[in-house]
Amino acid sequence: MKYRAPILGLALFMAGGALAETPALDTAAATDDGIRWRNAEDVPTFKIAEDGTIDWPTFSGYRRYHAECHVCHGPDGEGSTYAPALKTSAVTMDYYDFIGIVASGKQEINSAQNQVMPAFGTNPNVMCYLDDIYTYLRARGTEEIPRGRPAKKVAKSEAYAAAEAECMGAG
Ligand code: HEC
Repeated sequence: MKYRAPILGLALFMAGGALAETPALDTAAATDDGIRWRNAEDVPTFKIAEDGTIDWPTFSGYRRYHAECHVCHGPDGEGSTYAPALKTSAVTMDYYDFIGIVASGKQEINSAQNQVMPAFGTNPNVMCYLDDIYTYLRARGTEEIPRGRPAKKVAKSEAYAAAEAECMGAG
């Protein structure tokens, strides 16, 4: 009887591990702090109205993605021969892993091509807009928004503008 508890513990540990590898994709907008929408787990997400109007941060993400990432990762998060399709990464990777790679970079050492993802951790033009880029790519990855420039957007909020100014000033 006394050996059962460890075995049960191991089984729960393994079940937990299996769940962690296949997180449910939750893009539903649950809360709005005045700056951006977040899902029930506090991860940034997009909000798209029935007429296709997108939230400001996601529109900002469209612009920032095409300024900073598109040169390697291709237009609209579609990927290129050089770098992976980030619209897919944004719906398969954990949010914190995604943020970590952008901040610290990544290098595929086994790759014959020696591809390098640069570290952007000290670049405010990326780091101040990383949640925007993330929600834009999630909206692309779930096909909630089509390719190309989003036609309609909510205006930038005062809270967003204040947070943006503070982040850029601190950078
Ligand atoms: C100079 C080219 C270049 C630029 C610019 C660039 N990347 Fe990358 N990125 C890469 C390459 C190459 C890889 C693949 C690296 C690897 O697998 O080792 C990559 C990988 C990634 C990954 C991991 C994807 C996965 O599925 O494993 C993320 C996330 C990422 N980039 C985000 C970004 C974001 C966001 C931007 C813009 C702020 C950006 N990258 C700009 C070249 C670039």
